[in-house]
Amino acid sequence: MARRTTIRELKSHLGETVELRGWVYNIRSSGKLRFLLMRDGSGIVQVVWFKGNVSDEIFAQLDTLTQETSLMITGKVKEDKRSPIGVELDGQTIEVLQIAQEYPLGPKEHGPDFLLSNRHLWLRSQRPHATLRIRDRFVKAVRDFFDQEGFTLIDTPIFTPAACEGTSTLFETEYFGEKAYLSQSGQLYGEAAAMAFGKVYCFGPTFRAEKSKTRRHLTEFWMIEPEVAFNDLDDNMRLAERFLEYTVQYVLKECAFELTTLGRDTTKLQNVKAPFPRVSYDEAIEILKRKGHSVNWGDDFGAPEESAVSEDFDRPIFIHRFPAQIKAFYMKPDPQNPKLALGCDCIAPEGYGEIIGGGQREEDIEALRKRLHEHDLKEENFDWYLDLRKYGSVPHAGFGLGLERTIAWICGLDHLREAAAFPRLIHRIKP
Ligand code: 4AD
Ligand code: MG
Repeated sequence: MARRTTIRELKSHLGETVELRGWVYNIRSSGKLRFLLMRDGSGIVQVVWFKGNVSDEIFAQLDTLTQETSLMITGKVKEDKRSPIGVELDGQTIEVLQIAQEYPLGPKEHGPDFLLSNRHLWLRSQRPHATLRIRDRFVKAVRDFFDQEGFTLIDTPIFTPAACEGTSTLFETEYFGEKAYLSQSGQLYGEAAAMAFGKVYCFGPTFRAEKSKTRRHLTEFWMIEPEVAFNDLDDNMRLAERFLEYTVQYVLKECAFELTTLGRDTTKLQNVKAPFPRVSYDEAIEILKRKGHSVNWGDDFGAPEESAVSEDFDRPIFIHRFPAQIKAFYMKPDPQNPKLALGCDCIAPEGYGEIIGGGQREEDIEALRKRLHEHDLKEENFDWYLDLRKYGSVPHAGFGLGLERTIAWICGLDHLREAAAFPRLIHRIKP
């Protein structure tokens, strides 16, 4: 009996007859030969059928197969130097589960709207498949990194009573007669957990009602947020650069095949090694002015500014010490210059922009109260958060890495929506 296996495992079955279960990716005929490209979720392999080797019935059945027909086949595994996976199969038997109806995503080019509306089917194509495999491996590297570093995973809530990242992008929902908001960030809860566990991280979906339609914004995205008691801004940047070096190098090693499928030139990704250059906000303003940008001290940076500042470096950079007025209420002011906040953003190369935002938190209760007030936030919503400053307050810092932004950069994607299996965008919630 043929042993059941997957396409990814085929190489360890050279010379054996195996069973595969999957779908028709493509089929083409040439005289007495039929070339079936079969996919099973783990990969794609060519199965060659020779009229002289199989019954007339099987050979006739091959001509009824349509794209995405589900089937089981058996065949003998042979080495093949021209195959991207190094093997092909000599087809022997075939069992059809369902002949697929005419598949909407044929080999021709499709527009982005059509593809997004058919995202449930588009996932079967090679580019999304490679991208989401890379996302999966990146997440494994994230978890491995934090495990090795002695962090504890603490899952933070999605229903929250108050804003973390400003009130303009909140999704509001009714919560048994009260108002609740979908979490913009797990940070505030991460801070509470850091005071209990020392080094923690959360990793979950976050939500922002972004009204602008850009290539860099989703309304639902995943964020990885470490928070560490007793860390300051410099410790925080050192953690972030080691974290990115580990995760990006892991993906380069594990996902060479997927990166090739995406046509990604990985030479620049090889450079993702600590330390990353540090550029202060003040220096960034000077760089921008020198390059002819019309910016003033106090302006927040958008995509064009981030690209202009980072383009002269060969790896990700940190921009640090921003004007306090453009940053969130919880950021600690720089003791050297209280107009500045001890924040740091990590900017990815090749124009991908901010992938990490973070910094050192205000640990003094009176300073924090003042900041809440300045930001028009109600103190009573943050009473539990202020408690952290009452009972053994310590310096602490953390950051948030946007998963889809990072995957878009690693994969070289044009738009963040391809980095999520089922992206949520302004005006798009289906499928
Ligand atoms: O810079 P942000 O807003 O920082 C925070 O939320 C902090 N509370 C994190 C922390 O310190 N624990 O967001 C962090 C990252 C950004 O750098 C970006 O990568 C991503 O989250 N991000 C988005 N990704 C996709 N779509 C959006 N609308 C995003 N907004 C932020
Ligand atoms: Mg930010």
